[in-house]
Amino acid sequence: MKRILVTGGAGFIGSNFVRYVATNQSEIHITVLDKLTYAGNQANLPVSNKVELVVGDICDADLVERLVQKSDAVIHFAAESHNDHSLTNPAPFVQTNIVGTYTLIEACRKFDVRYHHVSTDEVYGDLALEDSQKFTPETPYNPSSPYAATKASSDLLVKAWVRSFGLRATISNCSNNYGPYQHIEKFIPRQITNILNGQRPKLYGDGKNVRDWIHVEDHSRAVWLILTNGQIGDTYLIGAEGEADNKTVLATILTLMQQSPEAYEPVADRPGHDLRYAIDATKLKEELGWQPQFTDFRSGLESTIEWYRKNRKWWEKEKIAVEKLYTQRKQ
Ligand code: NAD
Ligand code: DAU
Repeated sequence: MKRILVTGGAGFIGSNFVRYVATNQSEIHITVLDKLTYAGNQANLPVSNKVELVVGDICDADLVERLVQKSDAVIHFAAESHNDHSLTNPAPFVQTNIVGTYTLIEACRKFDVRYHHVSTDEVYGDLALEDSQKFTPETPYNPSSPYAATKASSDLLVKAWVRSFGLRATISNCSNNYGPYQHIEKFIPRQITNILNGQRPKLYGDGKNVRDWIHVEDHSRAVWLILTNGQIGDTYLIGAEGEADNKTVLATILTLMQQSPEAYEPVADRPGHDLRYAIDATKLKEELGWQPQFTDFRSGLESTIEWYRKNRKWWEKEKIAVEKLYTQRKQ
């Protein structure tokens, strides 16, 4: 591979993947296609003559065709990614996540370009809190939110393009990521930046909902392995056995930031709030030899807190607007 196209490369996970490839595969030219929505930030990208940013929309078929034609592989991260926004305005989710994916796979089909589809564990819906079951590649799709439903739709389009048109594609479904450069609307950075600003962190409902946390760098390494060694047509689940309920995660953040673990504000719950996600990553580990490197969640949180402390300029301008939206939703 000499040239790759990374969509959504100015977002949280896409930019981490770009940094990973630029560092570990420095001969590869990376074109980032990103619309720079509120979630995209050019400052997330490494400065390198091998990394080029094209500001544009993945739904723009002419632009997508021009870029795909020049690429050896497409790694598709671009999405509307926040559940809470999908509950107030689902339209951009349908457009970007479904129509955008359709536009990309049509171009990859036309020029026979390798395609990797980055997706989420939320396509499977949720598990019961008391259950010990985990999601596997065989778990039936059962999405709950508009966001999850549009991601599930995009996965199904990719599966159909593989079967009907021989698209050379793989899919990965990953659990909740954390780490530097995550937008401050998301749970962990929202709470860290609240505390740094002297505000109380906000916990939805009773805080018993469980997420399966993985460090973003472990996700990027997994995507690279699947792209280069995965079986065409296959789905790989990515997760690092990081299950924790929201109240425990928040108490850990508060403690690490020298606050009482109870110093938070309970707020309105998310409508349709998924209870528990848990990933069985056996296939990724056994077939491709992947293992997470960030196995200590507490120290991963500690370095993430440090990043937000040191990079106040990166987030502080947006904080008021982000919190205003949450206040409107009583969250
Ligand atoms: P993000 O919201 O931080 O970034 C999304 C990026 O896509 C932004 O840079 C944005 O500008 C860009 N974008 C949005 N619409 C676009 C469009 N129409 N055309 C071009 N670019 C557009 O998202 P993220 O958290 O980095 O997630 C990246 C991908 O990983 C998504 O597909 C998401 O579903 C998936 N995922 C996320 C997580 C997680 O925990 N954050 C977990 C599993 C899977
Ligand atoms: O599971 C993978 C998914 O993880 C990705 O597909 C999504 O793109 C990503 O946003 C994330 O979705 P969640 O909805 O799980 O993430 P979020 O950070 O919004 O919330 C995590 C949990 O924390 C969830 O149970 C809701 C809760 N929460 C969230 C916020 C913002 C709070 O209790 N308080 C908050 O202020």
